[in-house]
Amino acid sequence: MKTNLVAVALVSLFCAQALPSFAGEAEANYNKMCASCHGKNKKGNPAMAKMFKVKPEAMDLTGKVVQGKSDEDLAGVIADGKGKMPSYKATLSGDRIKELVKFLRSLVPQEKP
Ligand code: HEC
Repeated sequence: MKTNLVAVALVSLFCAQALPSFAGEAEANYNKMCASCHGKNKKGNPAMAKMFKVKPEAMDLTGKVVQGKSDEDLAGVIADGKGKMPSYKATLSGDRIKELVKFLRSLVPQEKP
């Protein structure tokens, strides 16, 4: 009986890791790959912006400047990079990049079209 419980616990643990929700995965990717420059709060790091010689708004992923762009534009920049922003197409599939864009959209209330 005890071993059964252990087995169930192990299987559920395995499933929880094997099937992470997409949103959770995008957030994990963000924290791993993007937070160093764009900040844990996603508003960009002003000191970084200064160092990269870009306007702080260019790195604020929650601000109007970035959120005002289309999904295609944002996915394009994540894939191909832009200035000091690295390119991620070698490390992230197109779907992963789309999920990241969705994740970024989820950070702020979206205006209804
Ligand atoms: C080495 C620092 C760095 C890392 C790491 C980084 N970025 Fe950036 N990112 C930048 C800079 C700098 C800009 C501003 C580029 C510009 O406008 O010249 C930027 C801009 C952006 C923009 C706005 C693009 C636009 O056209 O306005 C998005 C979206 C973005 N980054 C997403 C991400 C995502 C998602 C990740 C992780 C997968 C990431 N960034 C990782 C430095 C970084």
